[in-house]
Amino acid sequence: MNKLMRVCATLILAATTTLAQAGEVEVLHWWTSGGEAKAVATLKKMMEAQGHTWKDFAVAGGGGEAAMTVLKTRAVSGNPPAAAQIKGLDIQEWARIGVLANLDDVAREENWDQILPPKIAAIMKYKGSYVAVPINVHRVNWMWANPEVFKKAGARIPTTLDEFFTAADKIKAAGFFPLAHGGQAWQDATLFEAVALTRLGVEDYEKAFVTHDMDVLSSDKMAGVFATFQRMHQYIDPNSAGRDWNVATASLIQGKAAMQIMGDWAKGEFTAAGLKAGKDYICKPAPVTQGMFTFNVDSLAMFKLNNEANTKAQKDLARTILRPEFQKIFNQAKGSIPVRMDMDMSSFDACAQASMKAFKSTSKSGGLTPSFAHGLATTSAIQGQIFDVVTNFFNDPDADPKVAAQQLADAVRSAR
Ligand code: BGC
Repeated sequence: MNKLMRVCATLILAATTTLAQAGEVEVLHWWTSGGEAKAVATLKKMMEAQGHTWKDFAVAGGGGEAAMTVLKTRAVSGNPPAAAQIKGLDIQEWARIGVLANLDDVAREENWDQILPPKIAAIMKYKGSYVAVPINVHRVNWMWANPEVFKKAGARIPTTLDEFFTAADKIKAAGFFPLAHGGQAWQDATLFEAVALTRLGVEDYEKAFVTHDMDVLSSDKMAGVFATFQRMHQYIDPNSAGRDWNVATASLIQGKAAMQIMGDWAKGEFTAAGLKAGKDYICKPAPVTQGMFTFNVDSLAMFKLNNEANTKAQKDLARTILRPEFQKIFNQAKGSIPVRMDMDMSSFDACAQASMKAFKSTSKSGGLTPSFAHGLATTSAIQGQIFDVVTNFFNDPDADPKVAAQQLADAVRSAR
């Protein structure tokens, strides 16, 4: 065989090996806003670069409730996707019914136990084995502000609740919407969660939403949370019912609204619009929550498959997600921070750098607490009960905060 023929033979062999190993990954997620779509496109690209086919299974709907409903239907019919965005305690529930794949071999090869914070690794494991891969850490207790609107209204960006209400009054009087919001249950719960953290502090927040202490849930303090939450209602756009969160973020970008209390996926929208942190928009912890961090970890749980090539693609997907190259580009687009604690943050924006610093310091100080609005503190059954009480309360101007606190305790009790 001459040299040219040998080279051709090697190339043909390489191509057929790649083809033989190339599989398809179907990935269920709800990342459909501008920033989210850019972020998920980075994963698609990296999978395609490895020769695999990406089958997008996007189900629109912030917070993911619609996606979870669709996933259940697919799983019941015995045809789950290769991977699905399943978070927190729900990972355990899916694993318990025996449908999730074991990722321990990839985890060992890639040193997941060494690179992940132990608290997060534990969420991804069922009976000591990895069944899901974490993608990022979102901080939920953020407040986003449009500095121009503040300037026009002569208001200061608030760090306490009193300052929040003073600023909100000025902004409203100047003809802007103080608080960008979308009237959907999960968004109401996201705002309520920030107020709860503000008024209860981490210890009572956890008693209420993690360990479900009935005394705290029905307490006067909790009634106080509902009262503050109710007071905020007058500062949102009266047409916000049913509005998507990213449409609310857009009203901030367009200079119609001044603030939004929302997780840092909102930053993905600012980034996608070409805006610069600290200049075009400001990030601050939600009032009074400096030194606290409500965490939300996106993760893909992997389903058992019976096709060899697709199983290989699924493992490559898991491997790719925790590689530094992906952690960087995905999280820069998504607004979150890497879930690997060993990443160089110098190319991230100031808000992400602050978030990483706060994540690390609150891990030590005890200020790190799971978000119930995003499925990290409770199962979706309890979460659903809380959402109902919170959203019914928010939409009823005559609702009584004391009654709501009792309803909250009753609702949580009924779902346990
Ligand atoms: C998810 C984020 C997503 C947000 C809005 C959250 O529950 O964790 O990844 O961007 O919902 O859809």
